[in-house]
Amino acid sequence: MIGRCLVLLLLATSIRAQAHEGMWLPTLLKSIEGDLHTAGLRITAEDIWSLNRGSIKDAVVLFGGGCTGEVIGEQGLIMTNHHCGFSQIQSHSSLERDLLKNGFWAASHADELMNNGLTATFVVRMEDVTDRILPELPLDQGEAQVREAIARLSAPIVREATEGNHFSAVVRAFNHGNSYYLIVTETFRDVRLVGAPPSSIGKFGADTDNWMWPRHTGDFSLFRIYAGADNKPADPSPTNVPFQPRHVLPMALDGPREGEFAMIFGFPGSTQRYLSSYAVRYVQEAQDPMRIAMRRASLEVIDQAMRSSDLVRIQYAAKQASISNAYKKWIGELRGIKELRTLESKQAYEQEYLARARAHGDPRYIDALPGLASAYEEIAPYATARDLFVEMVYYGPELLRFADRFNKVVLDRAKLGFEGKLQQEVDKLLDGSDAFYKDLDLEVDKRVMKALLPIYLQHLREDLRPAALAALDQRFKGDVDAYVDDLYARSVLVSKERLVKVMRPFGTKGAKTMVTDPLFDLSRSFFQNFLETVRPAHMRISDRIDRGMRNYVAGMMVLFPDRTYWPDANSTLRLSYGAVEGSGPRDAVVYGAFTTLDGVIAKHIPGDHEFEVPQRLMELHAARDYGPYGVDGMMPVCFTSSLHTTGGNSGSPVLNGRGELIGINFDRTWESTMSDIQFDPEKCRNISVDVRYVLFIIDRFAGAGHLLKEMRLVGADRPPHIIQLPIHR
Ligand code: ARG
Ligand code: GLU
Repeated sequence: MIGRCLVLLLLATSIRAQAHEGMWLPTLLKSIEGDLHTAGLRITAEDIWSLNRGSIKDAVVLFGGGCTGEVIGEQGLIMTNHHCGFSQIQSHSSLERDLLKNGFWAASHADELMNNGLTATFVVRMEDVTDRILPELPLDQGEAQVREAIARLSAPIVREATEGNHFSAVVRAFNHGNSYYLIVTETFRDVRLVGAPPSSIGKFGADTDNWMWPRHTGDFSLFRIYAGADNKPADPSPTNVPFQPRHVLPMALDGPREGEFAMIFGFPGSTQRYLSSYAVRYVQEAQDPMRIAMRRASLEVIDQAMRSSDLVRIQYAAKQASISNAYKKWIGELRGIKELRTLESKQAYEQEYLARARAHGDPRYIDALPGLASAYEEIAPYATARDLFVEMVYYGPELLRFADRFNKVVLDRAKLGFEGKLQQEVDKLLDGSDAFYKDLDLEVDKRVMKALLPIYLQHLREDLRPAALAALDQRFKGDVDAYVDDLYARSVLVSKERLVKVMRPFGTKGAKTMVTDPLFDLSRSFFQNFLETVRPAHMRISDRIDRGMRNYVAGMMVLFPDRTYWPDANSTLRLSYGAVEGSGPRDAVVYGAFTTLDGVIAKHIPGDHEFEVPQRLMELHAARDYGPYGVDGMMPVCFTSSLHTTGGNSGSPVLNGRGELIGINFDRTWESTMSDIQFDPEKCRNISVDVRYVLFIIDRFAGAGHLLKEMRLVGADRPPHIIQLPIHR
């Protein structure tokens, strides 16, 4: 009996989480420094965030629009996820030179590949400017006036911050409009591809394993920031030189250890921690189910086509990934909030909130919740219409979106002609369409439209339909297949040849053809309907939601002063902390914290597009040839830690208490994905590639050991006290 209790106790403690909910503003680290040290941080808040010297923040970049990267080499070498560099890797790939399939390792700087439009952004400083904004806002007036006031008050703050330098600056709202920060950034515009493993490592497990633990993906890629001769950002040019960073993250050769302190520094995109029950109900009953249904339908088409053709596989790789990723996440989120009974606990909290608000007496706090309730009820059909528009036009058949590129030249033809710019604009569009057609399969596009339209129509309130869809009922008696076949048969947008015939030169006859083109017309109708009918109504009501949330969150802080508050993620730099640990995702299920190469080999399915393993990796495994990166005959691959993360944290550095890189974040477990709405310390875990696997792949697998010479590898023999970080100026 005693024995059994002990076992139970041990089990219980083994999954007792050291998780801490929250994504903290780096400028506020000083105020939680005590907690951080208790949790195991061994450097100072100033080592992480300093305005006076190089600190960890100087080694963290916003990579492109939506990922994080970190500086790991003196010559501007940065690392992010394979899936974050995916569209760059894809764009350099062709059937003859398939970087997706074979990987890529630049032998020298000259071999590194330039990427149009790719940027890396450092945060220079952040400053709380709430006092200069909030007291001046006309909160008793409409939200349009409030927004206008924020813009007016922010302008001089931004100007002061950017005068006489090459930085950019913005003032951003936090805490649903209850605080405001100035954020000053430095954006580098020449970022080149240095290395990527083959997809059979970088995307191993693909969609089947995506959002899942145990995981075995080597999800990393390497890039390099280039700067002008003055080390400042410059337009992409062969004459640029590698950027000299202010801080380089050391890499911990001994990797992560179970139970040790861990933290993550990056750019989480968005969370909804303070959502009302009315919003949760909408997500749970309408939004997630609808989006899941739309994406399931398009994925059925695309996945099947990718499996049956190598060309389609390359053409659709990046597009498929962006559709499938959120699809699977929403499934997990929906399950998670139902399991946690988020809706019910929000309702209970709101009862308590209302009672306290009434006792307190401030009408702003009292009215916030009823206001949110009625706004959510009214917004539902418009929010659904908006989501459907996004799903249809931005994730659906690509010709709908492509057609919109020509909107301006068709509608403004006379004006552009008068200015003498018409043909020049048209030619730019025609030349720019090559990349689009390279990756378009007409049959796939058509079938996606056929699959989505019925679901779209089923969810959309009838009076919110785009006008052009009337033809479906009138001319085709609701036969979607016949309707879509006819669209694609008659449209000139289906090929560059047809387009060129109509638009080069672009005369009166061509203009008439375009205006009456069925796909062009349908696309216009979708946009027009959204811009003129859906969006205005949606904005009018969401203004009330914004106001309600501002008052509701302000009320929480006053009415529940003992709770800890962190501002919802908003793509600004944040730090989360916790520990390297496994989890208890479900009753009777315990997840360990580490995976190894043995698990990769066990998942190997020869010839399978998701679970292929490179020959060379199998040989290294068979010989246990892991160099200094293995431990006890095992090669670590991924690990979990209890760090609160979300989309945008991809590629973020996971650091130990000394500020050394132990891993690179790329995912959460499926049982965690509701953490955007509700964080559960037992269940919520982020997934990282172990830094030792990264080094092993670069060095032993790829033979690109020259890259390691740029890095700062630190071993188990380092001094056990707080280390002063190197200062790079
Ligand atoms: N789930 C991770 C993230 O949200 C990885 C995505 C990689 N893409 C994929 N479709 N497997 O970004
Ligand atoms: N893979 C995600 C990204 O692209 C991170 C996973 C998450 O949402 O936690 O940012």
